[in-house]
Amino acid sequence: MTDETVTTDEPVSTESEITPEIDPDPASNSDSNPGSESRTTDRDGTTESGGFDTTESTVGEPIIEARDINVWYDDVQALTDITMDVPEHGVTAMIGPSGCGKSTFLRCINRMNDLIDAARVEGELSLAGKNVYDPDVDPVALRRRVGMVFQKPNPFPKSIYDNVAYGLKIQNIDGDHDEIVENALRKAALFEEVSDRLDESGLELSGGQQQRLCIARAIAPDPEVLLMDEPASALDPVATSQIEDLIDSLAEEYTVVIVTHNMQQAARISDKTAVFLTGGELVEFDDTQKIFENPDNQRVEDYITGKFG
Ligand SMILES: Nc1ncnc2c1ncn2[C@@H]1O[C@H](COP(=O)(O)OP(=O)(O)OP(=O)(O)O)[C@@H](O)[C@H]1O
Ligand SMILES: [Mg+2]
Repeated sequence: MTDETVTTDEPVSTESEITPEIDPDPASNSDSNPGSESRTTDRDGTTESGGFDTTESTVGEPIIEARDINVWYDDVQALTDITMDVPEHGVTAMIGPSGCGKSTFLRCINRMNDLIDAARVEGELSLAGKNVYDPDVDPVALRRRVGMVFQKPNPFPKSIYDNVAYGLKIQNIDGDHDEIVENALRKAALFEEVSDRLDESGLELSGGQQQRLCIARAIAPDPEVLLMDEPASALDPVATSQIEDLIDSLAEEYTVVIVTHNMQQAARISDKTAVFLTGGELVEFDDTQKIFENPDNQRVEDYITGKFG
């Protein structure tokens, strides 16, 4: 994690991740009717939005359009026919029990699954109208447009400044790096706390500061989309609250897609919520308020009310 060869593109071992806060208990993934519902349950079950309709989005037009995304790790299918539109700007949350494929889906968006030998992705995923799996798409250039922040703050063993400037350097981004670094730190609500010690190691910051540093590092190259995989789950309540405020402000400029196990957090900060359940299915996707107050799908209701994980 702290090796400087690690980049912001580094996949995080999900096996080593802790399950924070509301723990959906991966061991009890079997709901009361295992296998009795297909991935089309909610579509079959309603004549209204079906949970997949994003046309009533209170945020922007779709910037990410996933169509029938299937992912396997060797022979094991991790995602099944995921179709969803992520609106531009605002916050889209992804919730669901451990192992249901949330991180896998995030990694589809910036093609980080390419870095996992066992992973195979099928389907189409467009960013601003262009399928990122087209042969002419350069994954490195794609990752400049789609930044990522992980669960555990992972600053490099470099100065605060160099951490933020890292993406600028490796991606040969021109411009006034001092200014870009300062702006990124300001957007990440960290500048005031570190402005007089930019040459000190990023590892000397507190956990919450380190995570804001990682956010600054992710936004310095000016991405369009910011992927966040449980960005606050390793932090205390105060740092968590700071990160939530930060996400709120970042969403004015960026499209934020966040995985969280904390349902209150999803309810607080997101505009749209996607509920993934066992089997790598997207079971319902709708305005966050609708998901939390009146979901169409019984399994979603059971999950949200804690009846099963
Ligand atoms: N690198 C990998 N190699 C093999 N299998 C993997 C790999 N990463 C994930 N998987 C498997 O794919 C499935 C989905 O995993 P994923 O990490 O996407 O779930 P998740 O919803 O993010 O879980 P969590 O909430 O625990 O982070 C799981 O069965 C997992 O074991
Ligand atoms: Mg995960």
